[in-house]
Amino acid sequence: MPDATEERDPHVRFLERVDREEKVEPRDWMPEDYRRTLVRQISQHAHSEVVGMLPEGNWITRAPTLRRKVGLLAKVQDEAGHGLYLYSAAETLGVSRAELLSQLLSGTAKYSSIFNYPTPTWADIGAIGWLVDGAAIMNQVPLCRCSYGPYARAMVRICKEESFHQRQGFEIMLALCRGTAAQQQMAQAALDRWWWPALMMFGPSDRASEHSARSMRWKIKRFSNDELRQRFVDATVPQAAHLGLTIPDPDLRFDEATGHHVIGAIDWSELERVIAGEGPCNQERMHARREAHEQGRWVREAARAHADKRGHRTKP
Ligand code: 3HC
Repeated sequence: MPDATEERDPHVRFLERVDREEKVEPRDWMPEDYRRTLVRQISQHAHSEVVGMLPEGNWITRAPTLRRKVGLLAKVQDEAGHGLYLYSAAETLGVSRAELLSQLLSGTAKYSSIFNYPTPTWADIGAIGWLVDGAAIMNQVPLCRCSYGPYARAMVRICKEESFHQRQGFEIMLALCRGTAAQQQMAQAALDRWWWPALMMFGPSDRASEHSARSMRWKIKRFSNDELRQRFVDATVPQAAHLGLTIPDPDLRFDEATGHHVIGAIDWSELERVIAGEGPCNQERMHARREAHEQGRWVREAARAHADKRGHRTKP
């Protein structure tokens, strides 16, 4: 005879478990919506890491010094590893990597809008490390406490590497800002290009966010989009001042009463356009991913043939 606890609604028991800060593991019962939300978020996160390699990858052969090349190589390799951790975390939810990759390559899956902008100068590589990885850290450190065990554990190592990424980006910007007038102008132009797209990485406003309320109830998200965006602004404005750069927001002001830097209005129509595939580099990024996948076909076939020969049945 099941006891009263066993009989109670499993959803109620699940929420009590999340409230007790117990990690949910792959074999545990979970609401289908919870599983689906995790597959959605983790796979998009993984896609973002892999597509995120592209804007920086095209500067590896053009880095100004061997030291900069080595740092950028390490960062791009880290992003590939982040993608693999996250695809593996998504697979624990019963979805195959092949299925997730086909969603990305067919254009049905999202990846972060931020990776659809061009990197015309070396300063853009600095701005990406400083701002994009800086925003990633702000958004991803709380995910180390996500209620879903595999995602939380994947994020621990990812966040340690992100902090290296942010520091190497900031150091590139510092070197440029201490350089010639032309280098200072290059750094300012990069900040002008990346400031607002970096703020959009945190998602739509809390009012417009479709998933935040449930994600926060399930303790997937620990803070709202606007809360994390505000933390990023408060951390980054003083860094820009230290660099001697101007944040491209004429409405930016410091609110003594709250202790926060208040930004001007975000152009949400730009985020909508970029998410809809109409950003400056969406086509280029998707073409590069599809081409890389096609060029890697022989590797996958060879690995599968080798595994089959050794009796390890591989998934199609
Ligand atoms: N780019 C693309 N899509 C975005 C977006 C953005 N900047 N912001 C929001 N969206 C999408 C959401 O995916 C959702 O679409 P969907 O229903 O089709 O999945 C829709 O807009 C509504 O947004 P919500 O705020 O309701 O969605 P979420 O609750 O999922 O919040 C998020 C969005 C804050 C990005 C959240 O998914 C998240 O924290 N994800 C994990 C971290 C992540 O993916 N970061 C992206 C960058 S990865 C990175 O920075 C790599 C580093 O190495 C540089």
